[in-house]
Amino acid sequence: MKQQLVIFDTTLRDGEQSPGASMTKDEKIRIARQLEKLKVDVIEAGFPAASQGDFESVHAVASVVKDSTICGLARAVENDIVRAGEAIKPANSGRIHTFIATSPIHMEMKLRMSPDEVVERAVWAVKRARDFTDNVEFSPEDAGRSELDFLCRVIEAAIDAGATTINIPDTVGYNIPEQFGDLMHNLLTKIPNSDKAIFSAHCHNDLGLAVANSLAAVKAGARQVECTINGLGERAGNTALEELVMAVRTRQDAFAVDTRINTREILATSRLVSGITGFAVQPNKAIVGANAFAHESGIHQDGVLKHRETYEIMRAEDVGWSTNKMVLGKHSGRSAFRSRLEELGIEFDTEQELNEAFVRFKELADLKHEIYDEDLQALVTDNSAQRL
Ligand code: KIV
Ligand code: ZN
Repeated sequence: MKQQLVIFDTTLRDGEQSPGASMTKDEKIRIARQLEKLKVDVIEAGFPAASQGDFESVHAVASVVKDSTICGLARAVENDIVRAGEAIKPANSGRIHTFIATSPIHMEMKLRMSPDEVVERAVWAVKRARDFTDNVEFSPEDAGRSELDFLCRVIEAAIDAGATTINIPDTVGYNIPEQFGDLMHNLLTKIPNSDKAIFSAHCHNDLGLAVANSLAAVKAGARQVECTINGLGERAGNTALEELVMAVRTRQDAFAVDTRINTREILATSRLVSGITGFAVQPNKAIVGANAFAHESGIHQDGVLKHRETYEIMRAEDVGWSTNKMVLGKHSGRSAFRSRLEELGIEFDTEQELNEAFVRFKELADLKHEIYDEDLQALVTDNSAQRL
């Protein structure tokens, strides 16, 4: 029996921190409703102390979404925690996520606090958050560059203070998979009360490793992953939800966990977020890019037409596409050409006529990136092709 991997979506908080991606309350509500349909377990709806608008957005999301836990972010300071507590009040299930930095550089240069003061503040913040909800998440910010012994100390204290989820952020995307997996393993084995909380991975993509680092953490025992739709997020972004979920689902042999995610809603969610934020999805983006299930080369098309699993490890339909796609171009072969003509209701009297049309198709394909159905129609009109 697989254990549940909690999917914590932070598109509306860390995703919104992408320069140029800020969203209105109504836009956040639309995305939150879609995330609920996707069956995300926890929606981090914003940072209520950041602005009155963000407070209202989190409050509104907490009022309309009923099937996901709604989370508000708070620094380890009184006003942030109170604002987060008020914002999540209408939720069926509400969480406060409080954080404080634990790396030497952040403590010394940013917080100007000693390690002892940081532990004390973390404990205070978790206890204060527990005044509003018994669902409290604590993050030692920049854990990926923090010292292991100090991390163990602050996390043990946060759990004793009442934190129910411990999130390990690689805030600046500095870690590599083996290292991040080891970090998760060491925390889970060295902290005496680690079994009292769910451990979570929160990875940034500065080196393009956010999904790989998150998966390494899952292998090491993390049971929550924080991610965003289309990998939206600060700088190079966060762990992409669609990639993480489909990696775990497709490679069931490699992971002891599964998620509640309704994968058929993935494409619709990706398109909604892209449309609202104006952040286009690159064509070769895994799972949701226009080419993710498209085949152009003749060898691949021939294989897929004979059996889809020759070149497909997932079904396009399982993530919301209507089907996979054969793109006709200069690398395409006769079988895809013939198959597309058949779909268009075009047939030839003789094999010789088909071959001649195929030669004309290749000549045209050398001049164009992609051959559309209209091109094919034009291409065969000189021939003796019959329309059915
Ligand atoms: O990346 C980070 O450290 C964060 C924290 C607020 C968890 O987003
Ligand atoms: Zn982050």
